[in-house]
Amino acid sequence: MRSVGVLLLTAFAFACVVNAFGRTPVESYIANRQTSIDSYIANQSPIAKLGLLANIGPDGSKSSGAKAGVVIASPNTVDPNYLYSWIRDASLTFKVIAEKVVSGEDTSLRGKIDQFFESQKRLQQVSNPSGTVSTGGLAEPKFNIDETAFTGSWGRPQRDGPALRATTFILYANWLIANGNITWVTRNLWPVLKLDLDYVQNNWNRSTFDLWEEINSSSFFTTAVQHRALREGATLAQKLGQADVISGYNTQAANLLCFQQTYKNIARGYFTANTGGGRSGIDSNTILTSIHLFDPTAGCDAATFQPCSDVALSNLKVYVDSFRSIYAINNGFAANEAVATGRYPEDPWYLSTFAVAEQLYDALIVWEQQQRINVNATSLTFFRQFIPNLATGSYAASTSTYSTLVTSVKNFADGFILINAKYTPSDGSLAEQYTRANGSPLSARDLTWSYASALTAFAARDGFIPPSWGASGLTVPSSCAANPVPTVSVTFNVQATTVFGENIFLVGSVSELRNWSPDNAIPLSSASYPTWSVTVDLPGSTIVEYKYIRKNGNDVVWASDPNWRWETPASGSATLNDNWR
Ligand code: NOJ
Repeated sequence: MRSVGVLLLTAFAFACVVNAFGRTPVESYIANRQTSIDSYIANQSPIAKLGLLANIGPDGSKSSGAKAGVVIASPNTVDPNYLYSWIRDASLTFKVIAEKVVSGEDTSLRGKIDQFFESQKRLQQVSNPSGTVSTGGLAEPKFNIDETAFTGSWGRPQRDGPALRATTFILYANWLIANGNITWVTRNLWPVLKLDLDYVQNNWNRSTFDLWEEINSSSFFTTAVQHRALREGATLAQKLGQADVISGYNTQAANLLCFQQTYKNIARGYFTANTGGGRSGIDSNTILTSIHLFDPTAGCDAATFQPCSDVALSNLKVYVDSFRSIYAINNGFAANEAVATGRYPEDPWYLSTFAVAEQLYDALIVWEQQQRINVNATSLTFFRQFIPNLATGSYAASTSTYSTLVTSVKNFADGFILINAKYTPSDGSLAEQYTRANGSPLSARDLTWSYASALTAFAARDGFIPPSWGASGLTVPSSCAANPVPTVSVTFNVQATTVFGENIFLVGSVSELRNWSPDNAIPLSSASYPTWSVTVDLPGSTIVEYKYIRKNGNDVVWASDPNWRWETPASGSATLNDNWR
């Protein structure tokens, strides 16, 4: 163990190194850092709250036409048109509102949650391109703001939606129960909630579009939020006497927790965001996972990716560092200072930069509770940003190392808020993104989720402790079991006359039909020409869209519109007989 004197000297020497870089851009912009962050938050908090409420129907000032309880993503209608309601954005928005209600900060918002509940209950029943309430429609990512189905092509399904919605309602349900409303919860809320939880239980290991709606595979955020929903769903079911679902939810929760560990990229110190997609996998998907799964009763547990866990801190460093050299606005910062971050290497987003701050504030909450910081080989690189010669060990609150680390991490976290502050226009409005070149707002204006992310980051800085969702004391099963998804064997026959060199292929809307990728299309056999044929295993009870294409060398010709659309049976086999058109 090194002496306190050496540690102080190290911290002092390190401070000199930081000063040697001169004033960072953010520090030049804001002379008095502490006053500035406090005044930014004091100014921005009410703006963010009003901005969020303005985007909720029926009376939000920027959401006219939205039904009661419907959250618009943004009032922007052109480039991009965000005047839709995404289940993810809406659920995360109402999680913030529910937290304000259950913490007693603003119980006047309760009526809005009731409207949200009624709206989601109706939406669950709206048949849409992903299916009906019982055949996959619960994972439809977005709806029109009058609660009708959005029928354009989109990255669907997105299976984080039902889980996020369930988490928001469980938060509300637990508060209602604590306030004597168990009967209402059992009669009204539980049936709606159960649809989502059953959906998660039965579909978690099917492929999904990620939260950025681009990659169709398995996704860390989706897996993690599904895990959380089933755990807290099982606990709520117990309270409500719904014993029949508990073991099913817990069984699949254990499988999800097991699967969650498989995203770990040990060699490179981060969690890969998606199993597909071909990118590095460094993605704010993982930072959002950490803050969404925050449960202080679990301490710094690595299996549930708690904000102060070694793996989540290591992951945060890799993620933040990946943005240092790719944005002009990040030039000139010391290697241990906050910078603007995005979803993955593209333009910076307010919500991803706020999320980094939030993870760090959450970590500080737990270290304060534990009165200790543990540094191990996995988290060492993260902590060495602040004390370059730091050794692994357990640093109690009485040590100067603990104080230096806490102060440094707090400053680091504040830095991310200040970066967003720097690029917040004077009216406080928060768009979706800002440019990497000069930080001017970009893409959808007044993004509801940007406002929500500001509010949760500010709350974490204030020490807000969310209710536990049951992350404490979980054990990862020694081997992961998949939840078998029923499949059906489907034979596709199409009558098509072809010329020499031409062949017929099949593509469609699910991964088994190659997600519309002509390069990966499934070849059909011409053994019974002019009938071309192939048999494919597809998930049961699922609406699929598909098309045949003809290829001749590099020439690709698609059958004419519309797509063929069909719902697979629950089990068994089926044959489809089509004619080329
Ligand atoms: C695009 C984002 O990638 C997605 O996560 C979000 O749900 C929608 N915009 C709406 O905000």
